[in-house]
Amino acid sequence: MADDALPALPPFAAVIVAAGKGLRAGQPLPKQFAHWNGKPVLRHSAEALLAAGAAPLVVAIPENGEEAARSALGGVPGIRLVTGGATRQDSVRAALETLATDGAPYVLIHDAARPTLPLAVIERLLAALERRPGAIPVLPVVDSLAYDEGGLMAGAAPREQLRRVQTPQAFRFADILAAHRAWNGTTDAGDDAQVLRAAGGEVALVDGDEALRKLTFAEDFMDCQPAIRVGTGFDVHRLVPGEELWLCGLKIDHDKGLAGHSDADVAFHAVVDALLGAAGEGDIGQHFPPSDAQWKGAPSSRFVEHAVKLVGDAGYRVGNIDLTIICEAPKIGPHRLAMRDRLAELAGVHSAQVNVKATTTEQLGFTGRGEGIAAQAAVTIVSGR
Ligand code: CTP
Ligand code: MG
Repeated sequence: MADDALPALPPFAAVIVAAGKGLRAGQPLPKQFAHWNGKPVLRHSAEALLAAGAAPLVVAIPENGEEAARSALGGVPGIRLVTGGATRQDSVRAALETLATDGAPYVLIHDAARPTLPLAVIERLLAALERRPGAIPVLPVVDSLAYDEGGLMAGAAPREQLRRVQTPQAFRFADILAAHRAWNGTTDAGDDAQVLRAAGGEVALVDGDEALRKLTFAEDFMDCQPAIRVGTGFDVHRLVPGEELWLCGLKIDHDKGLAGHSDADVAFHAVVDALLGAAGEGDIGQHFPPSDAQWKGAPSSRFVEHAVKLVGDAGYRVGNIDLTIICEAPKIGPHRLAMRDRLAELAGVHSAQVNVKATTTEQLGFTGRGEGIAAQAAVTIVSGR
């Protein structure tokens, strides 16, 4: 099977419930429409379900929530919106009813508030439906459990027999619709597995995934990575006779060169510090200490490549780089485009994402007197590889 081929999954429909108020999360918008890891929360699982082949996909939204939902899902094709209800169970029921004539044999029911949805979980759930009418992802309980009676421990609960239950939950469509219709209590079932159980249906347990955790409180939104991070870098090297002059990856003809432990490419060093700063990875001296013999005379392109790799490891890619070289001589203009292209190549980006410019300091200061060259850089890094 080619890498990009869809896994061989049976046909299934999907429901995402996104009709809650998200009160505990305290976001400016209901949490399912708030940003998390670079995208609206709802969009993450909608894209994952569609990529796995869900059709149709129905999203239950709050009353008057259409504009917010369309903005969160903007550009994602093939999604049906339906107004949810006062409880989660009501919202699921409303969505299931719209699927009643679609004929999908299976349905996955998922909380919008669980944005990270691994394909492997979907595969396990659908496989389990071959033998049972329902299947849910669960995780073991690792802490011990206690009953609380007015602030006093009343007794221990049997952790070994208990499981933490996640979504998506998978069902044979006809069984879960019939179970919802047959429900005769208040609509406050914690989840749909409870609804199927109440109707006598068996529910298989498959391995869940910690990645499926539900965003519930304000702090769940605080540890997410911002969509864009910025870094700045600055460096100076001394100009001395008898040294080669390396600037932004090019060897430049000049009567002096830059002194330093590596090739002293001051421009690359500023870029490296900017990349490391954006990735929250300290500074160049930490990664390539001058005390380490392996960096003696090293080409600074290696430092750039390493910093770009760290950016990738942090879950980002380079957005753009702006570099300023500060010196009276040599003239940078004739080399500007070649420098830009070399830097773009090392950063793995298009040349249009890199800008190299130069300035003098009007013969003032150490750069003005030709004692050294300074460089400063600003970069953005963008979430997602
Ligand atoms: N949900 C829903 N309709 C409701 C209530 C909840 O579709 N009437 C959805 C939520 O949007 C969420 C999922 O059910 O995706 C799980 O509920 P929960 O995490 O409790 O979300 P909220 O009810 O929105 O949050 P809170 O309880 O903090 O107000
Ligand atoms: Mg709730």
